[in-house]
Amino acid sequence: MNLLLTGGMGYIGSHTAVALTLAGHRVVLYDNLSNSAQVMAERLERITGVSPLFVSGDVRDTDRLCHTLRHHAIETVIHFAGLKVVGESLEIPLDYYANNVQGSISLLQAMHVAGTRALVFSSSANVYGEPRYLPVDECHPTGVTNPYGRTKLHVEEILHDLARSDPAWRIVCLRYFNPVGAHESGLIGEHPQGLPNNLMPYIARVATGELAELQVFGNDYPTPDGTGVRDFIHVMDLAEGHACAVAYLNAHPGWQVINLGTGQGYSVLEMIRAFEVASGRPVPYRIAPRRPGDSASCYANPEKAHRLLNWTARRTLAQMCATTWAFQSGMGTEGPA
Ligand code: NAD
Ligand code: UD1
Repeated sequence: MNLLLTGGMGYIGSHTAVALTLAGHRVVLYDNLSNSAQVMAERLERITGVSPLFVSGDVRDTDRLCHTLRHHAIETVIHFAGLKVVGESLEIPLDYYANNVQGSISLLQAMHVAGTRALVFSSSANVYGEPRYLPVDECHPTGVTNPYGRTKLHVEEILHDLARSDPAWRIVCLRYFNPVGAHESGLIGEHPQGLPNNLMPYIARVATGELAELQVFGNDYPTPDGTGVRDFIHVMDLAEGHACAVAYLNAHPGWQVINLGTGQGYSVLEMIRAFEVASGRPVPYRIAPRRPGDSASCYANPEKAHRLLNWTARRTLAQMCATTWAFQSGMGTEGPA
């Protein structure tokens, strides 16, 4: 199948490109490289043996998208492109609405004109807000608390309206929990610019010695060891979830929202210990105040993904840490991607 991956040069898009290429699909990566680098194409070729088709462009450029969809006879789009940092979205909300909401509308208009009606959308567990019960299933009420989350919810609602308006549309919104890890080759992974906001990339850079210590945001939560608990999911499991969603779309019109998580929560301290074992390096930390906006625990009920997509996360916490470490410690020779 011919697939367009907007934001396909980024962290999750690149891993999904590997999974889809190895499954025999032909992928076109459409990206403005605002948070990724051209070198990714070469790395993907080294992993898969296939040179990926890359189109440099912004998702707000409707004409360029339309031309790309037609030129490559695209049958399904996976829409990763967007901005994703919660804190930054509070500072520059307009950029978030322009990239994430306007960008999605532009894509949908291009798909409408080109006659492509199948879409997988990258949403986030962020739309649930503070969990009211655990594990979080798809019926859990939404409760966004920041502009980033609102952009995701707005787009989900737009997609729902679209699917209701025309039965030809096939749409799956995937709500990711906490993606971590890297491809086993160590060639591609997550490399945030500047100081990492998320736990795993921060731990990785403390382990290399680039950062002196990790701040653990709160140890007085109502969790077994007092630190926050999250549903960390290996990015290659997430990537394979997209391949399953594409197969599902083939046979099912309409709109679905589906969690992609493992169903298992790990605490911050458990993550530190697992990373120390995987890397053989110490991860010094100190307890700091709670980070505003954080919840105590959040993990998925992944039953719907299993039922509809026949997908279950398979990789262990040890694999999440080992692949992150392989990527992070190889970065000196390979450079960021
Ligand atoms: P990423 O920043 O690594 O990748 C996004 C890619 O989109 C980048 O390559 C960037 O250059 C590109 N891009 C951004 N704006 C664009 C635009 N206007 N036009 C064209 N390309 C553009 O992020 P990621 O972690 O791979 O996330 C992918 C998607 O998954 C995002 O929509 C994000 O909100 C969502 N998501 C991510 C996480 C996570 O923890 N990483 C969690 C939940 C949801
Ligand atoms: C954050 C985002 C969420 C996004 C997800 C992507 C917020 C409020 N939410 O979620 O929208 O989908 O990343 O993975 O930013 N922690 C530390 N020290 C650190 C960093 C984190 O103790 O330096 C703790 C946090 O308090 C939390 C856990 O580690 O308990 C996970 O944090 P993080 O990786 O930022 O993910 P989320 O907060 O779940």
